[in-house]
Amino acid sequence: MSVQIVRTLAELRATIAAWRRDGAVIAVVPTMGALHEGHLSLVRAALGRADRVIVTLFVNPKQFNSAADLAAYPRTEDDDAAKLAPLGAHMLYAPDAQEIYPEGFATTVSVSGVSEGLCGAFRPGHFDGVATVVAKLFLQTGADLAFFGDKDFQQLLVVRRMARDLDLPVEIVACPTVREADGLALSSRNVRLSPSQRAKAPKLAEALTAAARRLASGARPLSTLDDARTAILAAGFDRVEYLELRSADDLATLDLLDRPARLLVAAWLGHTRLIDNVEVV
Ligand code: PAF
Repeated sequence: MSVQIVRTLAELRATIAAWRRDGAVIAVVPTMGALHEGHLSLVRAALGRADRVIVTLFVNPKQFNSAADLAAYPRTEDDDAAKLAPLGAHMLYAPDAQEIYPEGFATTVSVSGVSEGLCGAFRPGHFDGVATVVAKLFLQTGADLAFFGDKDFQQLLVVRRMARDLDLPVEIVACPTVREADGLALSSRNVRLSPSQRAKAPKLAEALTAAARRLASGARPLSTLDDARTAILAAGFDRVEYLELRSADDLATLDLLDRPARLLVAAWLGHTRLIDNVEVV
């Protein structure tokens, strides 16, 4: 069995129209490919809620801050299609670039508030790129449901806000972060880690989880975050870009744990930037 690969908007729309005539509920799982178990967990969740599941694969140039990062992004379409087939995903929509950004494309979807700070502060324009491409994918597929991982928590809130603000008739479904046995959050960027970096990488989740536990038992945020930052650097990370306690609803900064919260981090191991986040309850 293989997954149907679609490259044009015309073919996408024709297939979806036929599905709609059969009354199908349609889900979309937006990805940039290099699929790992985290993506596959989204596909399984989508198959549990929808009759037809479209996985999109588009390495979106508008959300990269550096040409080198865009060029280095893994492109593994054949492997991706092979991973999707046994799950029973119905379509891999891997559009040609002009189907997303046709000649003269001049529109940007920009979400204020939740896009600011955290990754938004260090990757200028990144969330505009994400919001723009995700809005297009929602409109092109007309999906009823869209699945995103908690791993990119700020992205999840940006997409939610965008869909709400633009009255896009799609339910955004969040799915838990999938981790390796040693706690490292799955990411397409993990393949870039050298063996010695890979050995250090799980310390990020370890420090985050320990800090979340301390916060939940009443420790002061300032000193807890300082200790976690120290632990991450002591574990061999080169730089902590941010480590912050934020409100889980709207990412407002928190000095006190007085509402449902999330602890979010970005840190560098050599040339690889890892992000992670955990709930603080
Ligand atoms: O999370 C990703 O892989 C990307 O940001 C997304 C949502 C597919 C948009 O390009």
